[in-house]
Amino acid sequence: MSLPIQLGRWLRKPETGRPHGPRPRRAVLVKQLGERDRRRMRRHFLDLDDSDRLLRFGTVLSDERLEQYVAGIDFTRDTIYGVYNRMFRLVAVGHLAFAPKAAMPVGGATTKARIAEFGVSVSRSARGRGIGSRLFERAAIHCRNNDVDTLYMHCLSSNQTMMHIAKKAGMQIERERGEADAYLRLPAASPATLLQEALEEQVATLDYNFKANKRFAAKFFSADR
Ligand SMILES: CC(C)(COP(=O)(O)OP(=O)(O)OC[C@H]1O[C@@H](n2cnc3c(N)ncnc32)[C@H](O)[C@@H]1OP(=O)(O)O)[C@@H](O)C(=O)NCCC(=O)NCCS
Repeated sequence: MSLPIQLGRWLRKPETGRPHGPRPRRAVLVKQLGERDRRRMRRHFLDLDDSDRLLRFGTVLSDERLEQYVAGIDFTRDTIYGVYNRMFRLVAVGHLAFAPKAAMPVGGATTKARIAEFGVSVSRSARGRGIGSRLFERAAIHCRNNDVDTLYMHCLSSNQTMMHIAKKAGMQIERERGEADAYLRLPAASPATLLQEALEEQVATLDYNFKANKRFAAKFFSADR
């Protein structure tokens, strides 16, 4: 038996059998979503409970309103990101929308024509593994590569987790009557950011196709014939 394995066992907590310290984080592959993912997006949003719906949308949207929201997403206008787990279940969705700066409360802070607004949700079972932060980072890179220098988020001030992510990213946060406007000024694109975005999407697409084919094969071979 190799030394790292022995050490790993020695470091496990006797009461839980889990290693000491924070849970190791897997690589998070963020993929741009499209029409093919709409059905899974619907399921992801409908699985959010009332408190998550409130945090994500600022109001407890009914199932019907959520279905309308998903049905109304225009993949040619907005950029939607997702993270799939090993079972090819969509466990997180980030929605990045560009709007004329005049339409946003922070419009005056930029000289660019548009600013971006981002909203995100991660399924409860997948939280605390860096997925929300990775979606945010991916959205920020996309903004930089599309000549947008302001990334905006609106959330409840009581949303401790999102406030933590926003502060960690260096966002400027303005609080008013229980709500918070957070915005991040982004540097211009560089060859490195263009390459990073393209590479991340390619790797995530490979992973997506692999999981989709695996799932298809599992269904095909388990079907009664
Ligand atoms: C907010 C949300 C997207 C975070 O997703 P996530 O995948 O768990 O986020 P991450 O794992 O990337 O990061 C969570 C961070 O918050 C920290 N955190 C968790 N709970 C916290 C709390 N109560 N107070 C402060 N920080 C907290 C974690 O320690 C972690 O920090 P670290 O990366 O420095 O260790 C998820 O909780 C969610 O979907 N909530 C409901 C919808 C929502 O609030 N959307 C945001 C408004 S648009």
